[in-house]
Parts: sequence; structure tokens; C-alpha cells
Amino acid sequence: MKAKENLDKQTQIIADRLEGGSMPRHIAIIMDGNGRWAKKRSLPRSAGHYEGVASVRKATELCSDLGVGFLTLYAFSTENWNRPKEEVDTLMTLIGMAIERETPDLVRNNVHLNLIGDLDRMPEDARNRLFRCRKATEDCDGLTLTLCLSYSARWEITEAARQLARQAADGLIDIEKISESDISSRLSTSTMPDPDLLIRTGGETRLSNYLLWQAAYAELYFTDTLWPDFGKEQLADAIADYQHRERRFGRTSDQVAAQAAPPDGHS
Ligand code: FPP
Repeated sequence: MKAKENLDKQTQIIADRLEGGSMPRHIAIIMDGNGRWAKKRSLPRSAGHYEGVASVRKATELCSDLGVGFLTLYAFSTENWNRPKEEVDTLMTLIGMAIERETPDLVRNNVHLNLIGDLDRMPEDARNRLFRCRKATEDCDGLTLTLCLSYSARWEITEAARQLARQAADGLIDIEKISESDISSRLSTSTMPDPDLLIRTGGETRLSNYLLWQAAYAELYFTDTLWPDFGKEQLADAIADYQHRERRFGRTSDQVAAQAAPPDGHS
């Protein structure tokens, strides 16, 4: 966590509130509700996405200030390509422009941008802006901010299966020895710990093809708050809720009390 005296007043209060509880190492978020936020105000859906960018900034700032290691955001799913072309174009432009605008602040705050998903499907302009930001932040070793773009868990697991099959066919791996870690290491999240806390805003209670493998032991937090209304206080509420969960990883409460650390491979 950053030194308290360097935090703004709101963040100091949040840090005090969360002090003493365990901080999730990795928070993953399904940002839902932009469209409904706009509709409630008789605004175009794009206004909701625009406002959603401000929430991305708030979540990134708070995670960085609190010393959370990884923040992973579902920015655009494989299924989102099926939205009307106009909305897809708006989202792509918005994501590219926002990331370019935020790059100096990301560098200043030591945030490393990571991108996962089928990036080849992204329009060239947005992709180039994202790649430039990734390059500019490659030496930052504070928070890792991962944007999932044209991402779906089934796509990613299928890719891993394809890789394993190819290597088995080439005689490079023994099929009988394929382990869970052989699959994990072929996912796009291979350098990250699994998410400890997975948040979905916007009132739906499903995972929608997001990090299905990695979320096996994640604590799930669902809130009716629409993504543009999800600010630092709301993120702090989710973390506080997480801090009250007992993470058993398949063991009994008594075992957990006797041995605080999770079993190997599950963090
Ligand atoms: C879901 O709300 C939101 C999205 C599909 C897009 C999320 C993208 C952003 C917030 C912009 C991200 C920007 C950066 C820089 C990462 P919805 O449109 O499904 O809302 P609805 O369920 O109310 O219709």
C-alpha cells in the first residue's frame, strides 16, 4: 500500500477501514450496466460507456493506492462483437482514446498495462493505441491492469487445448502427464495469480464466459450498482465483504483455522 500521507482524504478513510483485513491480491471485474445507466437518463448508450471509463479510472486508482497487485477488467467480450456495429465502433474508439489519454498517469502511478484476448480482431487504430500504452508501461512494476478485449474463457481454454494437442501430436508432451498447471500455463493469465475476488456490477448474477478456469476459487460479489455508479466507496464495500469471507479451498473450517495458508496452486 502507498504511504498513507500520500493518499487523498477519501482513500485514507478507505485504507483505514480496510486495514487489518487481508487484501485481495487479484480483483477481477465484470463491468455491467453502462447501457441501463444511460437509458435511465434518456441518454444514448455511448454516454454510459463514456461514464464507465471514469469508473475504470477510479478502480485503477484505488487498487494502485491499496497495493492490490492485479486488476483485471472485462472490457469487451467475444460475444460483444454481436452488438450493433455503431456501438462496437464507439466502444473501440472510446477504449483506444481513453487508454491513450491515461497513459501518462498510468506511468506516473507505476501501473503496467496488460492485454488479453483475441486482439487480432480489434480495429487497427484502437489496437495500436493499446499497444503503445502497453509498451510505455512495460517497466512499471506496481499494479498490473489487465484489459480483457475480445476475450472469452471458452475461447482461451480452446486455444490452450489446441496448443496442448499440437505439442502432443509432435511428441513434445506425454498425454498421460498433462496436469492442471499445463493448462494454466497455456492460458493468457499464466503470469498472474488466480483472482481472489470477482465482482459483477449491474444486477446480473452470472459469469458470462469470464475467467471460468481462473475463478474456480474466487469469492464472487454481485451488486445491483450500475458500472458508471461504481466508485471507490463501492469497490471498498466489495473488498470489505471479501475480508469477511472464510476461504476454505475445499477444506473444513477447523482445518482452515489450524493452517492459514491455502493448498499449493490455489491462492
Ligand atoms: C457492459 O455494459 C459494458 C461493456 C460491454 C463495456 C465496458 C467498457 C467500458 C466501461 C469502457 C472501458 C474502457 C477502458 C479504457 C477499459 P452494458 O453495455 O452491457 O450495459 P447494459 O447491461 O446496461 O446494457
